Amino acid sequence: MKEWKTRQLSINQYDDIINLWKKAGLPFRPRGRDSRAHIAQEMEGTDTAFIGIFDNNKLVAAGLATYDGRKGWINRVAVDPDYRGRGLAGKIITACEQFLEGIGAEIIACLIEDYNKPSMALFQKHGYILGKDILYFSRRKSPDI
Ligand SMILES: CC(C)(COP(=O)(O)OP(=O)(O)OC[C@H]1O[C@@H](n2cnc3c(N)ncnc32)[C@H](O)[C@@H]1OP(=O)(O)O)[C@@H](O)C(=O)NCCC(=O)NCCS
Repeated sequence: MKEWKTRQLSINQYDDIINLWKKAGLPFRPRGRDSRAHIAQEMEGTDTAFIGIFDNNKLVAAGLATYDGRKGWINRVAVDPDYRGRGLAGKIITACEQFLEGIGAEIIACLIEDYNKPSMALFQKHGYILGKDILYFSRRKSPDI
């Protein structure tokens, strides 16, 4: 059986990340926080890691871990539809957790749209507890951000 290894991604994999997000049907903001320049800047910081799994040279799963100094966050977990159901998302979550705990995070959280049942089941399987009493508010400089 193939052993799937996680590794930290660099800006050289930017196009692969975007293609994976498109393939996975994940919404993203190419003119905002998902622009090449913004992701390059994020990757330079020590509190962010983009983590991926490759099948040979093909990026087949990825996720984003960020630490704001108070909580760790896991975002944008995406698996190529041809590679789902093999535990790859779980491996991405574990690698994100290891990164975040390694830089001091004691709480790790994620935001999931209420229609995304597979993602909710995924995080619940990995020990995340749903907080039903929280609603998400945000304020944006533009809709593209
Ligand atoms: C959600 C997603 C990341 C899961 O990837 P995956 O590699 O297939 O997930 P895993 O094989 O690691 O599954 C682990 C667990 O997640 C849950 N899960 C995954 N896919 C599921 C589905 N379609 N329906 C219900 N539960 C699902 C199950 O609990 C599963 O455990 P099990 O195999 O023991 O039943 C993938 O479907 C995806 O990329 N979706 C589109 C992008 C997205 O919505 N990302 C989440 C953003 S928060």
